[in-house]
Amino acid sequence: MYNEIDLDKIDINTEPPTEEPARQHYFMAKCRKWVKDFEQKNGRLLQACVVNMGCQMNARDSEKLTGILRNAGYQITEDERADFVILNTCTVRDNANQKVYGRLGELNGHKRRNPEMKIALCGCMMQEAAVIEKIKKSYSFVDLIFGTHNIFKFAELLWTLLASERMIIDIWQDTDKIVEALPVERKYPFKSGINIMFGCNNFCSYCIVPYVRGRERSREPEDIIREIQGLVSDGVVEIMLLGQNVNSYGKNLTNPISFAELLRRVEQIEGIKRIRFMTSHPKDLSDELIEVMKHSRKICRHLHLPLQSGSTQILEQMNRRYTREQYLELAEKIRREIPDIAITTDIIVGFPGETPKDLEETIDVVRRVKFDNAFTFIYSKRTGTPAAAMENQVPEAQVKAGFDRLLKVVQETAREQVSKHQGKVLDALIEGINENDDTMVTGRLSNNTIVHVPGDESLIGRIVSVSLDECHGFYYIGHVTDLNEQKRETGQ
Ligand code: SAH
Ligand code: SF4
Ligand code: F3S
Repeated sequence: MYNEIDLDKIDINTEPPTEEPARQHYFMAKCRKWVKDFEQKNGRLLQACVVNMGCQMNARDSEKLTGILRNAGYQITEDERADFVILNTCTVRDNANQKVYGRLGELNGHKRRNPEMKIALCGCMMQEAAVIEKIKKSYSFVDLIFGTHNIFKFAELLWTLLASERMIIDIWQDTDKIVEALPVERKYPFKSGINIMFGCNNFCSYCIVPYVRGRERSREPEDIIREIQGLVSDGVVEIMLLGQNVNSYGKNLTNPISFAELLRRVEQIEGIKRIRFMTSHPKDLSDELIEVMKHSRKICRHLHLPLQSGSTQILEQMNRRYTREQYLELAEKIRREIPDIAITTDIIVGFPGETPKDLEETIDVVRRVKFDNAFTFIYSKRTGTPAAAMENQVPEAQVKAGFDRLLKVVQETAREQVSKHQGKVLDALIEGINENDDTMVTGRLSNNTIVHVPGDESLIGRIVSVSLDECHGFYYIGHVTDLNEQKRETGQ
């Protein structure tokens, strides 16, 4: 449905419409004409490459950029020597920024060999004024820069770029706009992310996301349901509902609705077999959500519940608004109500003022909750956040030692948790050919564990029963026991 815009029917010789998304469709049609003319004149096709550098929300944005470029007539490629390359950036930690500068250096080399090449930057990092200054000064070969709030007008910006020779910069400080019905090109035919909300209002003291993604805005449930129905008719069996804090979904809508209620409605959609969501803030996780998950046949047995720290004092400094005890209680309640659930988490080491004793408390929580997996990050100072101004930054050597210690414990609990399923037969959605052995395919269990089984392409996108034969730390080697997915109603 989203990709069915008949651009050739749009009259591009009139003034552009003022309403969205009609305006963007008009500019897509204009770009398309330009691309066609170029191709005819030069006897070659124009290629475009979208590079995603951030989280799942950025990945979803990248699919929108790809959809727009495809509609504008470009061939889509993964080759960064393309005629149009766009980096969709992340700025959550400093190393994400460093990667962008490295990548730009390489792109400049390609541009010297292809004078037609245009380089564009968008995403979270572009919402920082200091970054824009640096790019203007030291990376003047960049052709187009825009931010997170005006990504919906990419087609219009692309047209401006094609019609001019100068660097174009368009950054908005914030927006309350949500533009529906733009084209999207998915990376996987059988699974898809769906934004249910944008932005974040939590202002955890270390985090830059609320500054670069703006205030929290929820999409109308009807729009979400309609999008999912469209995806189902296009072959999608697994969806992931995306938001920085899905547990506060819907609170600010004119007709408020809870996240749990949204899940109930999504569950009713025929053809959807698996439902995932990301990310849950512990402070807003309701009993209603646990109840809905417990009785659901489609919601996956996986909850990503970022802990950040196991020390109440650090949590307070982080502005997380829960204590160590509250987190432990919550995790225990979830495990009691939904015994086969996998709980994964994010942890930051080296937040200002963190002592070895605080870290021990974090490690203790890891041992008690027995996380099925955890992403551990070294604290990165983000200019403009309250934590960046805190005086007691932790010395690097202490952070490094603490990080290594934590990682060991995290790996221990994860191994222990994953190995519990040895010998079981569970359903897996087969996602692709195994990267190291093309006689095998790789699938994902409802609880997010990876399993590799002998098989071929024909299994991709199907939910099959697999026997979990050998546990290799964080993943399984197994075999398919049952291909008949008709008899199963669920993805569990
Ligand atoms: N909205 C999500 C997190 C998005 S950012 C949530 O609240 O759970 C993903 C993860 O990056 C966070 O959970 C946190 O662990 C990490 N992170 C965010 N800012 C960071 C910083 N300044 N330094 C290190 N890690 C950070
Ligand atoms: Fe950042 Fe906190 Fe918002 Fe997550 S909830 S995006 S960590 S401010
Ligand atoms: Fe995601 Fe990075 Fe932006 S984590 S929201 S892409 S800063």
